[in-house]
Amino acid sequence: MVAGLFISFEGIDGSGKSTQARRLAEALRAAGRDVVLTREPGGSPGAEEIRALVLNGDPDRWSAETEILLFTAARRDHLERTIAPALERGAVVICDRFADSTRMYQGLSRGDLRETVDKLHALMIGREPDITMLIDMDPAEGLSRALGRQGADTRFEGFGQDLQDRMRAGFLELAATEPRFRVVAGAGSEDEVFARLTKALPELAEALA
Ligand code: ADP
Ligand code: TYD
Repeated sequence: MVAGLFISFEGIDGSGKSTQARRLAEALRAAGRDVVLTREPGGSPGAEEIRALVLNGDPDRWSAETEILLFTAARRDHLERTIAPALERGAVVICDRFADSTRMYQGLSRGDLRETVDKLHALMIGREPDITMLIDMDPAEGLSRALGRQGADTRFEGFGQDLQDRMRAGFLELAATEPRFRVVAGAGSEDEVFARLTKALPELAEALA
């Protein structure tokens, strides 16, 4: 079996994950690598249907526990249908958010449900990315960046500064205990962040040179 490489991007909303994940995918494709760029929640037809269920509607539509089940169900489908087959054929899988987002968003935002998230993950997913790029960003800076762009502010509704601060601290704490993490500062231009990112990926140095 050829071994692929599974890279996830994590960080608070507006930190630049999607932008940098896309740039990494483009650079690797330009170097001739087989790349699958995907995202969560979503990334397979079934998981995209679950995405619509969890991200639309009243914020209190689901309890925190039900949300954990929905995000994990979406992840299981995404893993079975998209991620695992791509890794088996040797592709680089770049995923915009993965289980660490559930650990932070569902695990910390409405009471302490970290253990529930981890138990369900062990039972139903049982796989971590090989590398997790954490784009670290001051929430106030991320918010003003997004507000500077027309129409980009809606997703921040309902996410207070306090919650974003706790998410940021939670991601940094997780990164300090899990060797798969690489922390990249999200401040500065897209080019500056991308240069930091490539420096933090020595295993892809040849393709990214
Ligand atoms: P995320 O996926 O983490 O929510 P995005 O990549 O969607 O973040 O970026 C959020 C917004 O900030 C977008 O409008 C994007 O174009 C913009 N953006 C991304 N990176 C930078 C950067 N380094 N400097 C300024 N604006 C940026
Ligand atoms: P999205 O529009 O993709 O936002 P972003 O560009 O910030 O990633 O929406 C994803 C939202 O879903 C985001 O607010 C984080 C949340 N989320 C969870 O709460 N739990 C999860 O497990 C995942 C994957 C995402």
